Amino acid sequence: MSKIKVTPSEFQVLSKYILEVSGIALAAGKEYLVETRLSNIMDALQCPSYNDLYSKAKRDHTHDIEKKIIDAISTNETYFFRDNTPFDLIQHKLIPDLIDRRSKNTGILQKTGIRIWSSASSTGQEIYSISMILKDMGIDYTRYNIKLLATDISDAAIAQASYGKYNRFEVTRGLSKQRLERYFNPDGDYWRIKDEIRAMVTFKKLNLMKPFTGLGKFDMILCRNVAIYFTAQDRKMLFERISEMLEPDGVLIIGSTESLTNEISFFQPQRYLNSTFYVRK
Ligand SMILES: C[S@@+](CC[C@H](N)C(=O)[O-])C[C@H]1O[C@@H](n2cnc3c(N)ncnc32)[C@H](O)[C@@H]1O
Repeated sequence: MSKIKVTPSEFQVLSKYILEVSGIALAAGKEYLVETRLSNIMDALQCPSYNDLYSKAKRDHTHDIEKKIIDAISTNETYFFRDNTPFDLIQHKLIPDLIDRRSKNTGILQKTGIRIWSSASSTGQEIYSISMILKDMGIDYTRYNIKLLATDISDAAIAQASYGKYNRFEVTRGLSKQRLERYFNPDGDYWRIKDEIRAMVTFKKLNLMKPFTGLGKFDMILCRNVAIYFTAQDRKMLFERISEMLEPDGVLIIGSTESLTNEISFFQPQRYLNSTFYVRK
């Protein structure tokens, strides 16, 4: 592992670059993060300094180094049914209410459909938790025309999510034995999500700092544990754009430890049991 230290001026340049390409804000004091997470890339590219890494990244028209830096710097921590209560909320309130409203509004569910977006999906546990809930509920995907979209900025995270393969540690986190056996197939030392669950989801690379072109509108958006890495200004801009991506009765779910204090003008908070969700204003 590279033992090269990042100098204050290199940290300034690199953190500005990382902010530009990903929205991830590295405040002073996060020098260790740059040193620990970028050391493998420094070694692989034989960079004598962080300035050299920056120059190589800027000169690289394939954007391959940029991708590697984003993969390394982003925190992909996630697990199945993370925090539990949002998934109880989805299962016991949001999905039944949506189905009810869609049935009343149109009488023809196929025409309206239900669209759910996991907007910083990391390695897929969040969106697969929703697929499993929908299966548990016995919901007929075709009848309700349910579409699940999962996006993330990290190529590596999206690749794993799309492949749906998890190691022993990952499947012990948040997943009951029943669901593991019901929805996964053993694959050597790994477990692979069954095709019937995998097929429900479309995975796509997407940077939340860039325009959401061509995504359409959603009935439910999850934007959990990602905005904490952005500046206050970027957070506000992001949640305003997310509110515009919601159907008039669409809902937003954020991380259990997050709040929308500065972005509340776009949403109406609502409580259900121990969860808060946000309806578009
Ligand atoms: C801590 S994980 C959260 C995963 C999941 N939402 C959860 O709560 O368990 C944060 C994810 O946000 C992604 N991310 C960071 N910056 C992003 C950006 N600008 N656009 C899209 N995704 C981003 C990271 O790659 C990472 O996978």
